[in-house]
Amino acid sequence: MTTDTLLEIANVMRGEEEFAHKSQLALPALERLLARPDLLTIGIARTGFHVDRSSWLYFDPDIAVTIGFIKAGQVVPIHNHGTWEIVAPYRGRVTYTAYERADDGQTPGHAQLEVASKEVLYSGQVALCPPPPHDVHGWTVDEDTYLLAVVGPGLHTRREYYEPGEQRYLEKEAQWPNLLA
Ligand SMILES: [Fe+2]
Repeated sequence: MTTDTLLEIANVMRGEEEFAHKSQLALPALERLLARPDLLTIGIARTGFHVDRSSWLYFDPDIAVTIGFIKAGQVVPIHNHGTWEIVAPYRGRVTYTAYERADDGQTPGHAQLEVASKEVLYSGQVALCPPPPHDVHGWTVDEDTYLLAVVGPGLHTRREYYEPGEQRYLEKEAQWPNLLA
């Protein structure tokens, strides 16, 4: 059942293991979830921050699973969340770029970013965004896409939006219930 799979993912991802390790443990359940035909019909409507027609598939104080629609051509600017995230197109295709902070994070407004990876994600493929300080990412939408996201605890309402060429970031406030991607 879809609900059982969501609970399995949440229970693995709330564990004490390192993010990279527990993400690997959760992958089989994530792949089963992404193969389910009903993800666009079982959610509870929410307002997204970068996405439209978004739904909660699962929520508890530690873990949230959402799915939302993003139109082809949309560019989601480089930003952070203050927590880890797993993203995967349920339908469609995105180009996802992960960044690492090369500075020490001690100068407000200043950030040096290095590209950690850039990958095209097709339906059912998964990208991992690690915990801070390397929870920096941006993506472009290559086809109309429904994007699944699993988000960890401690999501920041105040996010950093980066301008790598200028080695700086600006902060923007996200208001509940628009907290998630
Ligand atoms: Fe994000």
